[in-house]
Amino acid sequence: MKQQAILNVDIEQGIINKNIYGHFTEHLGRCIYEGIWVGEDSPIPNTKGIRNDVIEALKKLNIPVLRWPGGCFADEYHWKDGVGPREKRKRMVNTHWGGVIENNHFGTHEFMLLCEILECEPYICGNVGSGTVQEMAEWVEYMTFDGESPMANWRKENGQEKPWKLPYFGVGNENWGCGGNMRPEYYSDLYRNYQTYVRNYNGNKIYKIAGGASGDDYNWTEVLMRESAHHMDGLSLHHYTIPGEWNEKGAATGFPEHEWFVTMKKALFMETLIRNHGTIMDKYDPKKRVGMIIDEWGTWLDPEPGTNPGFLYQQNSIRDAVVAALHFHIFHEHCDRVQMANIAQTVNVLQAMILTEGANMVMTPTYHIFEMYKVHQGAQKIASVINSNNYEFKGESLPQISLTASKNEDGTVHVGICNIDHNNEAELKMDIRGLAVENAKIEGRILTATTIDAHNSFEESHKVSPKEFTEFCIGEKGLDVILPPMSVVVLSII
Ligand code: AHR
Repeated sequence: MKQQAILNVDIEQGIINKNIYGHFTEHLGRCIYEGIWVGEDSPIPNTKGIRNDVIEALKKLNIPVLRWPGGCFADEYHWKDGVGPREKRKRMVNTHWGGVIENNHFGTHEFMLLCEILECEPYICGNVGSGTVQEMAEWVEYMTFDGESPMANWRKENGQEKPWKLPYFGVGNENWGCGGNMRPEYYSDLYRNYQTYVRNYNGNKIYKIAGGASGDDYNWTEVLMRESAHHMDGLSLHHYTIPGEWNEKGAATGFPEHEWFVTMKKALFMETLIRNHGTIMDKYDPKKRVGMIIDEWGTWLDPEPGTNPGFLYQQNSIRDAVVAALHFHIFHEHCDRVQMANIAQTVNVLQAMILTEGANMVMTPTYHIFEMYKVHQGAQKIASVINSNNYEFKGESLPQISLTASKNEDGTVHVGICNIDHNNEAELKMDIRGLAVENAKIEGRILTATTIDAHNSFEESHKVSPKEFTEFCIGEKGLDVILPPMSVVVLSII
């Protein structure tokens, strides 16, 4: 049966913050070291230590904002260990992630350089779990103070004369867990205390982000909003899509059919979470001044066999790509509250954009979704409703089609559509109001595959990559589209 959607180009529903397309890089496994940082003496071509192939690929995503240094790592990171001559930097054990030696060669200066090269904004997460108020205050002073001060002078000695712009700062990470196992009441007080000394120097205005809840811990949001909302600009939320259980998450490839369905169901749970946490936030902040910052999201699967389990290295398939697109649709839908999201993580960890092996690099299906969907960054969300058929599997059902639409400054309309059904194609009739499609120039791109775990490997690096999409025609009221099973399409209409 044909399914129907109505889009109205004239009904504008708010700007999709470009930061929804943000990223997260942690000192975890091979994300920073090997994945991004190879050092200036590496045979792998690099720019001041940062690998060129990764830079080139990431630049095409228009990454707006990059979160660093963790994650759990942030609450045991002491920034002073990571500045000054590299050969003199302290070596420490990364106790959270694999117990490996961290030589601190990638520190504040290197991270700021990475942001400069990628032309994105830095989002730094400070240490509340094992750091002091003074340490956090001095980090902000080191990065942003212009003029004479102990930290600013030290920065200059270390080669950075001018302060950096630091727009986003997180006060701790997962402080209910790896960031200190705190109760919300206690963290809320600590948040108020620490954030007081996160100062705005010389016109650098910091958007302060409080550490938020995990999944459906609604009490955390309730307490934080009740006690501290007036001291924060954003409150974070973390939710990972895990097909199985915590100790057996499910394989990244070679998984059974039902794990495709379950993964889609769990990804769609993000919508419930945003709605429920958003309702609590509305109670204390009806004008939606405080942004919901989903600074960790994505699939979390079993590590690849034979790899260090503490490195969280997983393959990435068409399933991950569909999960990414669904998340974007949900974030767009809530663009009045969701002001940033950072997928975990950029390279070699969890739902990565890029996988590396020595000098080789491959772009994952998730990378391609970020590239296809970048057209929505900063665009005006337009109204759309869809009457979807059910995607049924063993007595359970989910809506088969998900759709999002936006209009950019030059009036181009972009429509993202997912068919999450792994077996059946979908016919969709789109009634597009406020735009004469018969006179429009329409182009489409599609990411799809014929097996549920299709992925890119170092041997076959373009197996899942975007192709031109032509399965559409002008219909009675707009556009008729045919979507193959497990596909993501982006249409551009001008
Ligand atoms: O992204 C991996 C880890 O997941 C992060 O370090 C932590 O914040 C979360 O539990």
